[in-house]
Amino acid sequence: MEYTLKNSTTITLRDAVISDAKNLVAYMHKVNAESKNLMREPGEFTFTVEQEEKFLQTTIDSPNACFLIALDGDLIISTAGFHGNSLKRVNHRVSLGISVLEEYQNLGLGRIVMEDLIARALLLKKTKMDLEVRVDNLGAIHLYDTLGFEKEGTIRNGFFVDNKYIDLLVMGKLL
Ligand SMILES: CC(C)(COP(=O)(O)OP(=O)(O)OC[C@H]1O[C@@H](n2cnc3c(N)ncnc32)[C@H](O)[C@@H]1OP(=O)(O)O)[C@@H](O)C(=O)NCCC(=O)NCCS
Repeated sequence: MEYTLKNSTTITLRDAVISDAKNLVAYMHKVNAESKNLMREPGEFTFTVEQEEKFLQTTIDSPNACFLIALDGDLIISTAGFHGNSLKRVNHRVSLGISVLEEYQNLGLGRIVMEDLIARALLLKKTKMDLEVRVDNLGAIHLYDTLGFEKEGTIRNGFFVDNKYIDLLVMGKLL
């Protein structure tokens, strides 16, 4: 699907496919170097292209997962996905993650991607989505809040970054 950002850039949002693996590895290196709101320190993403291909294949084959990419031309500018579990007692739930390259933040892209991710979860008959977010990641919290995610709890000292602990909020949405 094509969408227009607040700065009039037209972007494409679609499922990631195996041939995206090489560009995805490059994207992961870039986004992890840019953001301290994600799980990995720069250099901690160590997947090879082959490992990324396997990850994508597993995701594509799974009835409990989804992985989307947004592109400006050939450049990956955002990724988002969720994964769940096949065990019956938790099969209704998925956990999500999202990132947008710095240059493309605050242009409405995160909202476009999140809305699509929620629609995908519904298509897979999921009834609960959750996520973890740094308590000081106010832009992300605003985005999730306005999409109907509610604060469900706190993981105290959930992150250790720049030599200090930071709490994580658990946010969830009933679909
Ligand atoms: C969080 C993230 C995915 C949001 O994507 P995005 O494309 O910037 O999101 P959008 O532009 O659609 O929406 C951002 C919203 O936050 C608001 N916002 C930005 N900074 C804010 C702040 N400091 N306080 C409150 N709201 C803020 C924007 O005004 C916008 O709100 P609006 O839609 O009501 O106008 C993106 O910033 C990102 O990838 N950050 C780095 C990685 C990360 O934090 N991932 C999430 C980990 S849980």
